[in-house]
Amino acid sequence: MNIHLQKAFPGRGDKVVFVEEGKFQKEGVSALEFEGKKLSSLLWREPWGRILYVGIGGPPYTRDTLRKAAGLGVKSLLKIGARDITLDFSNHPDFLPHVDAAVEGAMLGSYRFEEFKEEKAKRKNNLEELRVVTGEIPDSLLQDIEKAVRQAQEIAHAVNYVRAIGNMPANYVTPETLSQKAVELAGKRKALYVEVFDKERLEKEGFGGLTSVGKGSANEPRLIVLDYRGEGSSSRPVLVVGKAITFDSGGISIKPGEHMDEMKYDKMGGCAVLGIVDAVSRLGLPLRLVGIIAAAENMPGGHAYRPGDILRTYGGKTVEVLNTDAEGRIVLADALAYGIEKFNPGLVFDLATLTGACIVAIGKQKAGLFSNREDIAEFLWKKSEDYGDPLWPLPLGEEFDEAITSDVALVKNVGGREGGACTAASFLRKWVGEVPWVHLDIAGPAWITKEYPYLEKGATGFGVRLICRYLMKRLEEKSL
Ligand code: BES
Ligand code: MN
Ligand code: ZN
Repeated sequence: MNIHLQKAFPGRGDKVVFVEEGKFQKEGVSALEFEGKKLSSLLWREPWGRILYVGIGGPPYTRDTLRKAAGLGVKSLLKIGARDITLDFSNHPDFLPHVDAAVEGAMLGSYRFEEFKEEKAKRKNNLEELRVVTGEIPDSLLQDIEKAVRQAQEIAHAVNYVRAIGNMPANYVTPETLSQKAVELAGKRKALYVEVFDKERLEKEGFGGLTSVGKGSANEPRLIVLDYRGEGSSSRPVLVVGKAITFDSGGISIKPGEHMDEMKYDKMGGCAVLGIVDAVSRLGLPLRLVGIIAAAENMPGGHAYRPGDILRTYGGKTVEVLNTDAEGRIVLADALAYGIEKFNPGLVFDLATLTGACIVAIGKQKAGLFSNREDIAEFLWKKSEDYGDPLWPLPLGEEFDEAITSDVALVKNVGGREGGACTAASFLRKWVGEVPWVHLDIAGPAWITKEYPYLEKGATGFGVRLICRYLMKRLEEKSL
């Protein structure tokens, strides 16, 4: 796909026009026929192509508004055969600062998962040309927009890459094949190094969490370490850790059958780490970024770990297993401990489809946000919708310690019915200590079972845009 920034419409192809509520104007059509309600649309045929009018409702017109409207427009036009699509901003100079968000929405709206469809069921057309028409503006402004668009393009590309891996089922994506993706990625990028720990090495070096969770599966666990050493990096590394359970059956504490298929998405935290490293290395950001993916398959079987087992995680802290389905925190404990010990990061993120309780607490649209640094949490919370990955803060604190205290080990891996997302986060905190840290429980938004304005069903790539944008912002402020 090619992106073109142009001052005027080239006069061919299809076009998306944004319509504010109550402001639809077209010769021979009454404004009553299209009200411009948020994300409503009207298709119009012209001799040279089609116009899709997309309503954006009333103000405020945020980045998210334009992202959704553009994404919906492109997704809808692609469904009816479009290949060359223009986003027309010529009547909306005030929206020009949001052009990059619109391009992001358009690119996300153009992705689809068709690997396993019959040839004849696949869509024949692809988004080949994406045009942005700005109207008459100074060249300097055009250059600024161009730069923002290029960044959005790299990030959206990474999000779609994450979705493509995420949508692959567990018979294709195993810890081993996921590690191959990381090796492939490192081969394509300058300054990106990869190391993969196999089962033997993990056992030898004391990763008792990851190896235990992976024991029940014929697909052996892996720890994947991606080390991006951007030119000009000066401060301590940023560490991003992801949970990649390629399939979560629950293990011996097996899950009910209904919706169990969705547990192929239990790898999305780890996939997001791949995407973040992809985008940051594409953009060539001047920082040191270490991505660690804890990959395992959680299965029952004769070799599986069991309720009652006591595990020794990397560094020695012990865990009493009371439910083998609370496996995410166990694999993350190893990965966090290793990453912090080995790389001495100044900032740590982790992303995980960690708890159903988080969905019960705040629904599926937003991720749960936990942090030991209130300033970082507040900033992320406020900016998250702008960035496209909305968050909501949840509590962390000593009040949850009691629930996870074990009689026989440092902690137990379940904390009871109350505040399940919070006890899981408090569990992780034991392996983090005082390093500035942000935990994102992405169980809700990591995949969708209903279409979204700019996303089809399936993996969403949640977290990639958020963390990339945050790092870019910190670099811009020279505070990283
Ligand atoms: N991967 C699940 C969490 C999950 C559930 C994500 C539903 C998305 C949708 C996690 O490993 C899990 O099974 N958590 C348990 C923890 C419980 C046993 C303490 C849960 O949330 O039920
Ligand atoms: Mn589980
Ligand atoms: Zn899980």
